[in-house]
Amino acid sequence: MEVNPIPVLTIQTVPYDDQKPGSNGFRKPTAVFESKRNYLQNFIQSVLSSIDLRDRQGCTMVVGSDGRYFSKTATEIIVQMAAANGIGRLIIGQNGLLSTPAVSCIIRKIKAIGGIILTASHNPGGPGGDFGIKFNVANGGPAPDTVTDKIFQISKTIEEYAICPDLRIDLSRIGRQDFDLENKFKPFRVEIVDSVDVYLNMLRTLFDFNAIKSLLTGPNQLRIRIDAMNGVMGPYVRRILCDELGAPANSAVNCVPLEDFGGQYPDPNLTYATGLLETMKGGEHGFGAAFDADGDRYMILGENGFFVNPSDSLAIIAANLSCIPYFRQMGVRGFGRSMPTSTALDKVAKAMKVPVYETPTGWKYFATLMDSGRCSLCGEESFGTGSDHLREKDGLWAVLIWLSIMASRKQGVEEIVQDHWTRFGRHYYCRFDYEALEPRTAVFIIRDLDALITEKSFSSQKFAVGSQVFSVEKTDSFEYVDPVDGTVSKKQGLRIIFADGSRLIFRLSSSGTMGTTLRIYAESYEKDPSKHNKEPQAVLGPLIAIALKLSQIHERTGRKGPTVIT
Ligand code: G6P
Ligand code: ZN
Repeated sequence: MEVNPIPVLTIQTVPYDDQKPGSNGFRKPTAVFESKRNYLQNFIQSVLSSIDLRDRQGCTMVVGSDGRYFSKTATEIIVQMAAANGIGRLIIGQNGLLSTPAVSCIIRKIKAIGGIILTASHNPGGPGGDFGIKFNVANGGPAPDTVTDKIFQISKTIEEYAICPDLRIDLSRIGRQDFDLENKFKPFRVEIVDSVDVYLNMLRTLFDFNAIKSLLTGPNQLRIRIDAMNGVMGPYVRRILCDELGAPANSAVNCVPLEDFGGQYPDPNLTYATGLLETMKGGEHGFGAAFDADGDRYMILGENGFFVNPSDSLAIIAANLSCIPYFRQMGVRGFGRSMPTSTALDKVAKAMKVPVYETPTGWKYFATLMDSGRCSLCGEESFGTGSDHLREKDGLWAVLIWLSIMASRKQGVEEIVQDHWTRFGRHYYCRFDYEALEPRTAVFIIRDLDALITEKSFSSQKFAVGSQVFSVEKTDSFEYVDPVDGTVSKKQGLRIIFADGSRLIFRLSSSGTMGTTLRIYAESYEKDPSKHNKEPQAVLGPLIAIALKLSQIHERTGRKGPTVIT
């Protein structure tokens, strides 16, 4: 039977002025995507137009989502627009599902030109929640600033977009679907792939699966509890930790991806992963972990709910890389951490004699370092760790790292952490988030603080709180020059570093969707092991008091405290 080729249409549109991607992707309330005419189409066209026409014609792209509400609709529109814009082939996870690390992995494996991930990460989903779009480039990592700036520029002047509205795909059916388009010589191809396969095969090459399997099975099995938080990680956890590595089926909870994540925040921290925390406090499990909706973030808990701070997790992983076959083979070239991440990593780097790169917040800044072979392991205080196996942070990979370390050292989570502190000292750390502030107020607080701390007289200031005295050693507005391509990123957060190594950092988040979020990060160092078991907030109280006094944040916002503390 002769099938008519599918028409390619050009549709007129009107630009928006607010389609600026943040620290990682473009996020807005779902209602904005649903109610504003062509809001999604404009952004997708801007993404596709940012790719040079010669590179775009006939190329392959990867598309996946964390399963949140509006993802299916958006995926269908992206397929229709990709076809109309000359993309030759799309690889899509079954039912539209792919974790962020899996997308990065597939892009690299098949040498795709890039990928689109539909997620607002750890932000809630549903009609009243958030929706988001991340664009990753050919190395598998988030688009760098040069690309996101270009996308934003295009979005401000866009006049039309191209689409094949009659093109229909079946997202549930694994396999190839070919479509003949008007004016196209070659068919447009969609390949629906298993969401887990490629990623699992990669993990097999990095880890000793047998060692992990022995830990999780047998008479002395480690009992684990893994919470997929109703996000995309459910199928990965079941397949990899349960089917492949032998963890009993009841180790994995909240493993069915839900469009609204069950009404919860899919955010792996002590505030939102309370179900996991409560179970772990019961004492029956020796290891607990949770992931965010798209699977790049993770949180580790030990027996009785012992919390592993993400900055510590990064440093501990760094110190134990020799437990992992991948790093034994590849060696360790350097480490990366975002500026607000604690300096626990730096202590390990010094001992191992490898360099540490201190970057602005946002995973994209690690990509050039990894691509140029400078950096093997990177991490951020915002619950993300990853290595040069991909160009994204990778939650399940981090869990397998921890399990490998436990298998190799034959120790529990808390013991590993305590040993680390004894050897390197403990970096007490916490972050205060003031969410949804009136944007002008937040910007003015930072502006005034910038003026205050960069005044010459400030550098000789001393602050006495109770019996403690903090002498300012250095202050600045953090600026980063990429050592590989020379790109300069200014105004990446205000830093006050004290003589004893304590730090206070203030910055505005660029991943929120409501108002503006101001973050205050506090860190102090304690070498004495007899003082390693205190409450971080109690230890950091004096530093936080200084931060509140300098910023006047409560007086200026009318808030009595932060929205979230991590
Ligand atoms: C995303 C990015 C991270 C970043 C985090 C917080 O998850 O991938 O790289 O650390 O957002 O960014 P923010 O600007 O909100 O502090
Ligand atoms: Zn995420």
